[in-house]
Amino acid sequence: MIRFLALSLCASSAAAESGLAAWLRYAPLQGGESYHSSLPSHIVALNTSSASPVYVAGQELQQGIQSIYGKQCNVHHSYDGASSSIIVGTLDEYTKAYGSLSNPPNLIEDGYWLNTEGNTIQILGKNERGALYGTFAYLSMLAQGNLTKVAYSSNPNAPVRWTNEWDNLDGSIERGFAGNSNWFANGVIVSNLTRTAEYARLLASIGINAVVVNNVNANASLLTPQNIEGLGRIADVMRPYGVQVGISLYFSSPTSGVKGQANLTTFDPLDESVVAWWTNVTGQIYQQVPDMAGYLVKANSEGQPGPLTYNRTLAQGANLFAKALQPHGGIVMFRAFVYNNLNETDWYADRANAQIQFFKPLDGEFDSNVIIQIKYGPIDFQVREPASPLFANIPKSNAAIELQVTQEYLGQQCHLVYLAPLWKTILDFDLRVDNESSLVRDVVSGQRFNHSLGGYAGVVNVGTNDTWIGSHMAMSNLYAYGRLAWDPTLDSQYVLQEWIRLTFNADQSVVNTMTQISMESWPAYENYSGNLGEQTLTDILYTHFGPNPQTQDNTVWGQWTRADHTTIGMDRTVSNGTGFAGNYPPEIAAMYENIATTPDNLLLWFHHVNYTHLLHSGETVIQDFYDQHYAGAATAQTFATMWESLKGKIDDERYYDQLFRQVYQAGHSLVWRDAISNFYNNISGIPDAAHRVGNHPYRIEAESMQLDGYKPYTVIPFEAASNYTAIVTSSNTTTGTAQTMITCPSGTYDVAVNYFDQFGGHSHFVVSLNNVTIGEWTANLKPWIGSSEGPRVLGHTPSIYIDGHSATRITFSNVTVAKGDMLKIVGTPNGIEPAPLDYVSLLPLGIVD
Ligand code: GCU
Repeated sequence: MIRFLALSLCASSAAAESGLAAWLRYAPLQGGESYHSSLPSHIVALNTSSASPVYVAGQELQQGIQSIYGKQCNVHHSYDGASSSIIVGTLDEYTKAYGSLSNPPNLIEDGYWLNTEGNTIQILGKNERGALYGTFAYLSMLAQGNLTKVAYSSNPNAPVRWTNEWDNLDGSIERGFAGNSNWFANGVIVSNLTRTAEYARLLASIGINAVVVNNVNANASLLTPQNIEGLGRIADVMRPYGVQVGISLYFSSPTSGVKGQANLTTFDPLDESVVAWWTNVTGQIYQQVPDMAGYLVKANSEGQPGPLTYNRTLAQGANLFAKALQPHGGIVMFRAFVYNNLNETDWYADRANAQIQFFKPLDGEFDSNVIIQIKYGPIDFQVREPASPLFANIPKSNAAIELQVTQEYLGQQCHLVYLAPLWKTILDFDLRVDNESSLVRDVVSGQRFNHSLGGYAGVVNVGTNDTWIGSHMAMSNLYAYGRLAWDPTLDSQYVLQEWIRLTFNADQSVVNTMTQISMESWPAYENYSGNLGEQTLTDILYTHFGPNPQTQDNTVWGQWTRADHTTIGMDRTVSNGTGFAGNYPPEIAAMYENIATTPDNLLLWFHHVNYTHLLHSGETVIQDFYDQHYAGAATAQTFATMWESLKGKIDDERYYDQLFRQVYQAGHSLVWRDAISNFYNNISGIPDAAHRVGNHPYRIEAESMQLDGYKPYTVIPFEAASNYTAIVTSSNTTTGTAQTMITCPSGTYDVAVNYFDQFGGHSHFVVSLNNVTIGEWTANLKPWIGSSEGPRVLGHTPSIYIDGHSATRITFSNVTVAKGDMLKIVGTPNGIEPAPLDYVSLLPLGIVD
């Protein structure tokens, strides 16, 4: 039984926290002094080189024990006879110094042995990195007040545990929601790499062993001699943490005129000059980065060049790099995300089939240092997808799973969505290859098909923001990613609670509240974005943020819903559809082929049905759409309220920052709910049996108010505004007024105002009752003026339009309203933003609409 010492003593840390320290805060435990005698006094780190992970481990132990328990330990580099020590080093170094352990642990690369049972604590790695991992595991226990005696070994589930960072050389980050790059600016690698080193430390603490530092949509000029030198500097600051550098390559670099490199007329992977070019450049890189992890390649995908241009196979393309890397020990992560544009009028066309079509025939043709990097689902990081069947179809090839830590399609860090439960649906999925257990996690570990290479790639996209990823709570996803890549059998909630105790504190109500919000967050988001396997019904042509279901269809991108007036869903059956279901091994194929055995949460992924089709739950598809969208948004309202219960239990800085986000999410979840419900209500013509959709008794539509300097505006897409209509100021320079007399009974109300916050302008709004201001704010995704907690920026991809991305709600609580009062909103436009307003809701307490 694990004991968490001092937890009852552990109060909130009042000091403001920026988030920079993430889960490595080493927060002082109250009463820590009373445990000094049970803690060692000396640290022996069996390496004297300050650039070695073992040396770093010694420093971490010293810093951690001092900070958490207030005990000062000395660090030594050889055994000096002192008792009560922690000895950290490789198993080999330990054995040389002290002789063999009586029961030597069975360690693989990066694994460690942690023994706190004896007088000396042993933290021994198979390699130096492993020793550092063991150190962080021990410090994690200490920081959680857990002084239980343990003796165990821990080995990673898979050798490849990488992050992918989509940083561009100009300093921007594709699908990054936390500021600019920490390592690139203006086409080169920056000189100050302090944050880069700090990031490596964070990653080491969760077992990540490499970072691919540039975008998969790569830029050839990464390969200039100046940038190669810069990669060497990045590698130098990450190396002490056992984190290696990898890079994404632009396939046609040889013809791109890279400054300082030869320029060829071909990038044909079989051309000798091309082979020599890559061999030479690879050699240059290894001179600067002797331990470079390898290359990540996105080829013949979404406009990226690749071997198909020369009628060479993707395997020939991958092997070009594999051969260049092989003498240096590097590996190629070759992305399976390859597809062509398709025509929706072809009933049998299906983007989900593309990876099988491209890669299955090539199984066995990839060199042994190539790993096929496969997104978890067949499409693209959607709120729910079935496991990619490619995991079952390339048994002769090494495979890795690509997860997305940054929430591109899942709320962009402005909606709290704890992703570990989603990832677990894939990792724990049994593909039943040859009718035998074939869990996805066992495929990528290499265990199922006997490969020594395989693992995990997590698209993280940290930026310069203090929170790293864009919001404090979203960091649970990075933590969980690392922990699951190390051990995918871990329970999502267990990992989450570890993270909460380390990142905030161990107060039981803090742990319980954050756990409840986080564990309910993905189901809630799925319910109000796209349930029944419909994917995230966002704007796939623009920001990937707010609702816009019609963008899925009539495009070449193949993320289709095939929704019409009576039916919806992709028929992916073999018998009548695209045949995708048949890509799975027989047991699974049979399950998805048959509508009766397809789970409701993937129904529309596999089947095309009437809106009136009955689910296993007994509800119709359309009514379930309405019900789940209402239920999901209702759950999101509770997050803000639950978060408020944490006031005083965590530091104010993080409390207010997250509160701002939870309030925003509560409002935007209603935008989602209404947009999706209205869209399908409109297209199907089937009313909501519960009379909620299109029926909002508490709303005053802005266009129905008395307008002066404002005019009605028809919003596109229509479902992004209540009653399809907003109001905008008559010009971009003159103020507008919308007013109306209150007709509801006198009482106390929450006054919610739905407006649009476009990128490119900061309109100002003042709401008053009988000319007494009840609130004012500026539409720049910061809190309302008068709030002491701002300014804050949400960080999602901005929209310049009046649409589902810019639709926002602000609420003024507990306002005393009398029948006959004059409600007035004055909007002052700014920039391109014409102070757009949608509606006002006067909500009796406890009602949200
Ligand atoms: C998504 C994402 C792109 C990215 C691509 C990829 O489509 O929107 O920004 O480049 O995935 O993974 O390559």
